[in-house]
Amino acid sequence: MLTMVMVQTLNGRITNGSDPNPSTWASPEDQHHFQSLLKDSTVLIMGSTTFDVTPAKTQPKDGKLRVVITRDPKKYSDVSQPEKFEFTDAPLKDVIKDLEQRGHKDALLVGGGTINALFLKEGLVTHLSMTVEPKLFGNGQLVVGELAGLDVNMKLLSCEKVNEQGTLFLRYEVIQ
Ligand SMILES: NC(=O)c1ccc[n+]([C@@H]2O[C@H](COP(=O)([O-])OP(=O)(O)OC[C@H]3O[C@@H](n4cnc5c(N)ncnc54)[C@H](OP(=O)(O)O)[C@@H]3O)[C@@H](O)[C@H]2O)c1
Repeated sequence: MLTMVMVQTLNGRITNGSDPNPSTWASPEDQHHFQSLLKDSTVLIMGSTTFDVTPAKTQPKDGKLRVVITRDPKKYSDVSQPEKFEFTDAPLKDVIKDLEQRGHKDALLVGGGTINALFLKEGLVTHLSMTVEPKLFGNGQLVVGELAGLDVNMKLLSCEKVNEQGTLFLRYEVIQ
């Protein structure tokens, strides 16, 4: 199972302008929700830009494997550590197959939009856990980057309003 986990605004933004860090605007409920999803998985997959902008990126306390998708793994050779931080330019299908063979059955895809689009186009995402914050940002990154031919159908599994302001937790299954 590969679950894409994101927090977005009502207009699909995952960042606010040039601020790369969603934790400056995501609700405390979302941040708690992310931690609970993390408990049920052993690996996080992300694009290199998301890795680059993550604060304290090389000192996570959760013990999970991070797999970073980059076209140039060599540029991360100083931070690469097997079973902790792995950097790969392998085809995405092979990345997932390799993780499954190593016992990582439940992975989280944690962005950003560029890498989300690539995994979705390959048909590798099975579920989407989306927090929608009741906000609109005039600019910022989109939850799925532009990628010609990307066309995915989903089925809503659950929808929960989690605070007074109206933050929503949505869970979808991808229709393959
Ligand atoms: N709100 C949220 O839930 C959330 C979640 C995650 C991220 N974010 C935000 O999203 C932003 C990053 O999103 P992003 O879309 O710019 O970056 P991204 O998806 O994290 O990473 C993009 C990078 O992936 C690498 N890459 C590997 N294979 C590629 C390929 N085939 N085609 C293109 N690129 C490839 C490229 O870097 P190389 O040069 O290394 O190849 C590219 O620059 C950050 O600001 C982050 O904070 C928000």
